[in-house]
Amino acid sequence: MFFDHLPGAGYVCAHRGARSLTPENTLLAAQLSLDLGADFWEMDVRMTADGALVVFHDDTLSRTTDVTARAEFAHRAPWAVHDFSLEELRRLDAGSWFLSADPYGTVANGDLLPGTAERIRGQRIPTLGEALAFTRRHALPMNLEIKDQKQAPGDTAIVEAVLRQIREADADGLVLVSSFNHDYLKAMHRLAPDIPLAALVGRRHPEDLVEYLTKLGVAAYHPDKDMVDVELVGRLAGHGVRVTPYTVNDMDRAVSLIDAGCFGIITDFTHTLRQRLIRRV
Ligand code: G3P
Ligand code: MG
Repeated sequence: MFFDHLPGAGYVCAHRGARSLTPENTLLAAQLSLDLGADFWEMDVRMTADGALVVFHDDTLSRTTDVTARAEFAHRAPWAVHDFSLEELRRLDAGSWFLSADPYGTVANGDLLPGTAERIRGQRIPTLGEALAFTRRHALPMNLEIKDQKQAPGDTAIVEAVLRQIREADADGLVLVSSFNHDYLKAMHRLAPDIPLAALVGRRHPEDLVEYLTKLGVAAYHPDKDMVDVELVGRLAGHGVRVTPYTVNDMDRAVSLIDAGCFGIITDFTHTLRQRLIRRV
């Protein structure tokens, strides 16, 4: 299983792929995670109007595709992912926005790897199947985050669909499933106790945290970076729960969290953290 590939601690996780050097949640971002030395990569999964699973972060398509410039979709504002079919989503350009928005200043700074600008322009929204095939092909472990399908409260169909695809891809041993929606985690635990889970939390720790996580059946805890300290990491380690904070882009903080015993660090700057850790040994 996932943790057999990563038996220790102090691992680098590429958030949405190597998203400071490539458009997030694309196959190019996955490839760069691997090339830049991530130990595992994180990506987000959503369901389309016709029940397919795609790798995409936001509820809507406007930030990370060219949908707003496409006449055929002008009447579809606010362009919710779940309102589009897979075939429609695949027509969108999910790369070029990165070159114009330059969200990390890496384009202007000349930090892009040679040849990546051309490849960036050709990126499409990947299917979950493609992402799982990438993970399987390269044996690069994946943190698969299931996004809360707010349009369908109480419906856990996405969990069953994700599980089916993990099995079909024969990627069971390489995937850690996480979600802010803990009902999804409960459903996954019921359906597939062999798939390791991580509870994502963004603001405040659940009450009676250890008991809560034990009941949920999770192997890992993924809190916001500002919620983590040495005491928390030690306490959870005592109960076999690994802590991996997100999203840590301050490298001094990342290193101190690793020193505190964190299992992993989810970062937008895979290359910088990897270099920093290499220089330390
Ligand atoms: O899985 C960690 C992190 O990705 C959670 O937040 O919004 O970046 O998906 P978000
Ligand atoms: Mg995520």
